[in-house]
Amino acid sequence: MIDLRSDTVTKPTLAMRRAMADAEVGDDVLDGDPTVRALQDRVAAMLGKDRALFFPTGTMANAAGLWVHGRHGTEAYAHDDSHIVNWEIAGLAGLRGLQPRMVRGAPVMTLATLQAAVRSPSIHAPQSSVVCFENTHNGAGGMVTPLADLRAMADFARVTLKLPIHLDGARLWNASAATGTPLADFAACADTVMVSFSKGLGAPVGAALAGSAAHIGEAFVARKRFGGGMRQSGILAAAALHGLDHHLGRLTEDHDNAKRLAAIVADGVSDVQVVPPDTNIVMIDLPARISSATVEAKAKAQGVLVSRWNDQRIRVVCHLDASREQVERAARVLVEGLKA
Ligand SMILES: Cc1ncc(COP(=O)(O)O)c(C=O)c1O
Repeated sequence: MIDLRSDTVTKPTLAMRRAMADAEVGDDVLDGDPTVRALQDRVAAMLGKDRALFFPTGTMANAAGLWVHGRHGTEAYAHDDSHIVNWEIAGLAGLRGLQPRMVRGAPVMTLATLQAAVRSPSIHAPQSSVVCFENTHNGAGGMVTPLADLRAMADFARVTLKLPIHLDGARLWNASAATGTPLADFAACADTVMVSFSKGLGAPVGAALAGSAAHIGEAFVARKRFGGGMRQSGILAAAALHGLDHHLGRLTEDHDNAKRLAAIVADGVSDVQVVPPDTNIVMIDLPARISSATVEAKAKAQGVLVSRWNDQRIRVVCHLDASREQVERAARVLVEGLKA
């Protein structure tokens, strides 16, 4: 099977498993784990923040970011197609008592759509406590929000709305690789930043939340409360460090493969809309004559796994475990499957 459902499907390489086996560990809940500390220090430096904290998942790290900034019974600005809104089973409401203030109207949040979402002041209207960004944007096909746009939105959030910002940067690595923008420049547009190790970097699990010492101190309490205090977690942090050492530099290969797949499908089938990929995710919008369930089943029968994003859209994701040759083969299978 060529599995292109997600970049989370990668299996740890032998070298990564060896690094995990060799990791120096301690009790990270009791008095710290040296490998976890090394990872946290490295991520904080890469993102230009005071501190970073290791989490089992991006979902928990997002929840901790919202915990730090959010106020119960207020709103969090978020894009209506963001991961925080659609794929974290309403954690913002369930864990922090936040209602999303949906930012609608473009594939990713823009200054104009954020401004349009601001409520007129009224004693009856909800107040807001945090603004959420996502870069790259999963639902928009791994789309990058360029630094200038992110800065403009951050200035508006901070200066006009006087609100803190949480950035879901699960694939911020990809945004940086695709644009050449340093991670720290993107991260400076937010108060807390989540990055994930279990996507393009190929680690089995793990994410980090970075921010000021005060914010990460609060996130530490939230992590413990959410049940995310881990003991000899250096074994997992070693996988993340290995991903930073060996897989960060190759992300552009996934981006090139995504572009190649998009080109083959767009050339091969005239009535599909392929969203041109900025990074490693390709969204393919289908005409009414064929459903995503049919395409998914036809591709699976030919040894290719893709995911159904909705009834008329499929998502195909390039990653470490899919070679150029496999991606090209998958693209040809999709072309056949998409034909009438
Ligand atoms: C944009 C984005 N944010 C957050 C997450 C959550 O990460 P995790 O699966 O580690 O909880 C994902 C996972 O796919 C994601 O794509």
